[in-house]
Amino acid sequence: MFASRIENLVESPVREILKIIDRPGMISFAGGLPAAECFPRFDYTSLQPCHLQYGPSEGDDRLREQVAQSLCERGLRVELDQVLILSGSQQGIDLVAKLFVEPGVRVAIEVPTYLAALQAFDLFGAQYCGFIADDPKPDGTSLTYAIPTFQNPTGHCYSSEQRQSLAAACDATGSVIFEDDPYRDLVYDECDRTPVCSYIKEVDWVYQGSFSKSYAPGLRLGYLACSKPLVQKFVRLKQAADLHSCRLSQQLISTLLDTQDDRDLIGFYQTRRDSFQESLQYTFNHIAEWQQPAGGLFYWLKLKPEFAMDTRLLLQQSIAAGVAFMPGEAFYPAGSKPQSSLRLNFSHATPEMARHGLGLLAGIIETARTGRVQQSNSV
Ligand SMILES: Cc1ncc(COP(=O)(O)O)c(C=O)c1O
Repeated sequence: MFASRIENLVESPVREILKIIDRPGMISFAGGLPAAECFPRFDYTSLQPCHLQYGPSEGDDRLREQVAQSLCERGLRVELDQVLILSGSQQGIDLVAKLFVEPGVRVAIEVPTYLAALQAFDLFGAQYCGFIADDPKPDGTSLTYAIPTFQNPTGHCYSSEQRQSLAAACDATGSVIFEDDPYRDLVYDECDRTPVCSYIKEVDWVYQGSFSKSYAPGLRLGYLACSKPLVQKFVRLKQAADLHSCRLSQQLISTLLDTQDDRDLIGFYQTRRDSFQESLQYTFNHIAEWQQPAGGLFYWLKLKPEFAMDTRLLLQQSIAAGVAFMPGEAFYPAGSKPQSSLRLNFSHATPEMARHGLGLLAGIIETARTGRVQQSNSV
């Protein structure tokens, strides 16, 4: 009765965890949620009855123009007709999957990678070929999916060499590159953020960004730019999916982009990142290893060998104690060997709550380890 691909559709662990983080007292390190204190003040008076009417599938021209200009400024030369406004950049992943993936198609992905991209690619029957930034391997793949700037979940930002070598590898092998770039504006330390797609000479490319992380995720707005041969295909896929993105959201963002942004977004997040680092050093130094991210919203913790465990097994207990986190294992494709790890969002909880929550979480991991050691001694 159902299409056979539905068997590949698994629930998103993040979405499941997000359902419970609003419980009173819950400290959440789970989602990639921007801090609500940072939402911009939108000019709702800019909304007109015409924004309630159906609009173009490509998106409203003014916003497309603003996006095209901003992409040119970051080194990706595009014309307005190469830009498509999306209903959140998650929609871009769905459209790319529809365009390129069918059962058995090989997709090169960073391992670990954004779990909702795996969810979307899985639905269409993708097979994966994992790579790391130092050694991109798109050989034999139709599509390469990468998050080069403040990767989700690891927070890694590719160096200039890594960017150029990924582009060169895609050009050499004919693997279409799909660059997902929702975190680029959340930058705290100097680093190269040039789009990998700007180095592409031969293959088709897709670059996407989001208004969720630096503006407001509830608007559900993102954008995609692509090489010219792909434009019409994406427009038709978008038409078939939802006709067009919300025009009220487009108008709000477009008006905001024309005004001076007086929020100190970077200062706010940088302070949270730095105090999270201090709290981690205090609570997790003996348990895990990590690198401070230069941008984005996440710390990626690898548990030290003596603490190695499947962190999914800690989730229930942790939630019962009032702390939500994302088990790192969720970011690995099925069948791969996940590293014992945690992804912790640092932007949502206040520094005081974060310190308290990290202490609780560290305690849960230590207790689990003690229990395991005692069990193995008694065998
Ligand atoms: C790497 C990556 N891509 C895409 C998305 C989807 O973002 P949105 O649909 O809100 O633009 C996210 C959200 O967390 C993400 O981390």
